[in-house]
Amino acid sequence: MPKLTVEGFGTVDVDDNKRLVLAIEQDARVDILHACGGNARCTTCRVEFIDGEPEVMTVAEKQVLAAKGATGVRLSCQIRCDHDMTVRAISRLTGSGRPDPGSTPAPDITPPPEWIPKEG
Ligand code: FES
Repeated sequence: MPKLTVEGFGTVDVDDNKRLVLAIEQDARVDILHACGGNARCTTCRVEFIDGEPEVMTVAEKQVLAAKGATGVRLSCQIRCDHDMTVRAISRLTGSGRPDPGSTPAPDITPPPEWIPKEG
């Protein structure tokens, strides 16, 4: 079982290959946003990696991060917990002014993932 640490919230065990956005919300109990429902469109599920950043990313993640000019962040809806990770939850419902975090992402990555190496 991979271990997920969310800075300031502690460390939890997570089911292998669970979507990171769901692990942060359901296991670490952090109010992360997922406004587009985990479909690689909104970037509100973004996190900063402190340790264990995955070496691969989905084409959808790469495209939306590039389109929004976002650097130094990853989309937790496009990442599977397949090893230990430490992240900083930088996009939370608390303080966002939003009424809710967004609809709950599906258990599996959407859209169906096409994996490519992370650059840089
Ligand atoms: S990009 Fe919208 S929830 Fe991940």
